[in-house]
Amino acid sequence: MANNKVAAWKNLEDFPTLSHGEIHIWQVSTDNTATNFVDYTGALSEAELSKVHFFESKHARNSYVASQGALRQLLSGYLGISPKLVNIGRQKKGKPYSLDYEGLYFNLSNSGNLAVIAFSRDSELGIDIEQMRHLPDLDEMIHTNFTSSEIKFINTKPEERLRRFFRFWTVKESYLKAIGEGMRLAPENIEFSMDNESIRLLSVKGVSEQEDWHFKEFSILADYVGTLTYDKANSILMQMEL
Ligand SMILES: CC(C)(COP(=O)(O)OP(=O)(O)OC[C@H]1O[C@@H](n2cnc3c(N)ncnc32)[C@H](O)[C@@H]1OP(=O)(O)O)[C@@H](O)C(=O)NCCC(=O)NCCS
Repeated sequence: MANNKVAAWKNLEDFPTLSHGEIHIWQVSTDNTATNFVDYTGALSEAELSKVHFFESKHARNSYVASQGALRQLLSGYLGISPKLVNIGRQKKGKPYSLDYEGLYFNLSNSGNLAVIAFSRDSELGIDIEQMRHLPDLDEMIHTNFTSSEIKFINTKPEERLRRFFRFWTVKESYLKAIGEGMRLAPENIEFSMDNESIRLLSVKGVSEQEDWHFKEFSILADYVGTLTYDKANSILMQMEL
């Protein structure tokens, strides 16, 4: 995957073109000491600004401000509309989409102090990242969310166990987000196989899903894992930083 780190842009002419067949994955710091944070706050709509104070933790508040503000800035760059005036709709199960232009797909994910937002002109998308961290209820989570063959793969290498758990987790979440189901479809109803080369969807119960989905793990910071699910074969993935 190409990895293009793009500095914050100042005018629309500098904004990267999203060509057909490309997927842009933007990495955003959600730390409120990051230089762009004030711009993210300024990009929020009135409705979003009024929600900010309802978040109890500072961390959740910062993640919300940065990810929604960055999403508005990026939609603004791709569509040529002022960030505050960008219109974002929600499908019935919560998946956000552009109300301004139907030919632009996107999806976002937050974890730790990072957000990622993926964009495409011709591929439906789901994206998920997780910061790998100690989980006191890891055993229970493995048994609740994974099938027996997945559990076998996760448990085969004790030193890889946590990483494999989070890799599978992001694969399932990104798929659930690509199809727009979110948490309404229990993850144990989806079965994947995984090795170092490829990820394959083996079976899914509870939805009539006909798409031929593709799964790509991408690297961000060392203690993170991330997976993108997309439906257009041969898409070129490019990573960028806001
Ligand atoms: C959306 C969901 C799938 C992921 O949420 P999450 O991992 O906690 O959070 P992320 O930051 O990765 O994603 C949240 C973003 O996804 C997007 N989203 C929300 N609903 C969505 C849906 N139905 N489909 C696609 N994207 C959705 C939104 O942009 C949301 O951020 P916002 O509400 O601030 O705009 C959520 O339904 C969920 O809570 N899933 C957990 C279910 C589970 O048990 N998973 C185990 C997998 S092994």
